[in-house]
Amino acid sequence: MSPQHFRHEVADVVKKTRDFLEAQRQLGLDFLPGGPEMPEPEKPRSERELLLSGTLTLQATRQVLGECTRCKLHPHRTQIVFGVGNPQADLVFVGEAPGADEDAQGEPFVGRAGQLLTRMIEAIGLRREEVYICNVLKCRPPNNRTPESDEIASCEPFLIAQLKAIKPKLICALGGIAVSALLKAKTPLSKLRGKFHDYYGIPLLVTYHPAYLLRNPNEKKTAWQDLQLLQRDYTRLTGRPLR
Ligand code: URA
Repeated sequence: MSPQHFRHEVADVVKKTRDFLEAQRQLGLDFLPGGPEMPEPEKPRSERELLLSGTLTLQATRQVLGECTRCKLHPHRTQIVFGVGNPQADLVFVGEAPGADEDAQGEPFVGRAGQLLTRMIEAIGLRREEVYICNVLKCRPPNNRTPESDEIASCEPFLIAQLKAIKPKLICALGGIAVSALLKAKTPLSKLRGKFHDYYGIPLLVTYHPAYLLRNPNEKKTAWQDLQLLQRDYTRLTGRPLR
């Protein structure tokens, strides 16, 4: 075929295609199957992206967690301690990690420190069932040792997903591990407590961990001053009166 003939053939194919597409357009078909205007299929998300997306409910977050083996704590636990309370709570308490009682019962803050936390919640005029309680870690570290940074890192997306699902109006971080996980702060707790900080637009109060208060009862007065800040702002921020 001569070059001139070839150009002629190409021009003819282009014209026929254009006419065909125009006829299709007039019939109401404004994209070609497989063409550039086809909606893109959803890209598979990474688990982390999904957890941070804010699209998961509390129950769905628990399902994604499954029988977790993501960090080295899983062989030591009896059961996962995910969280307890009102899924629409205005106030969320975040502790450190389950202890022996929590590991045995599957519920956070049920041991001695938990009983103190329940009294602290009641002291501000709320009931335990009205708030949500969870921990940075969902599994008990062996012998209640301090959580390690790799364990915190693998559990953190689940805490974030819990907070995004609940959308509380207030958060109370109990102790140094919760504070550093949430605020990424290295400042000592004594300098951070007693005031609200900003957690992505949610006021976050820092106070002592109830287990610390059991060991240092003279600090209970200080913790009570912190809790009074929650009490002071709860109704203003939630529109709900306290008892
Ligand atoms: N201490 C915590 O930080 N969390 C619990 O659930 C119990 C004790």
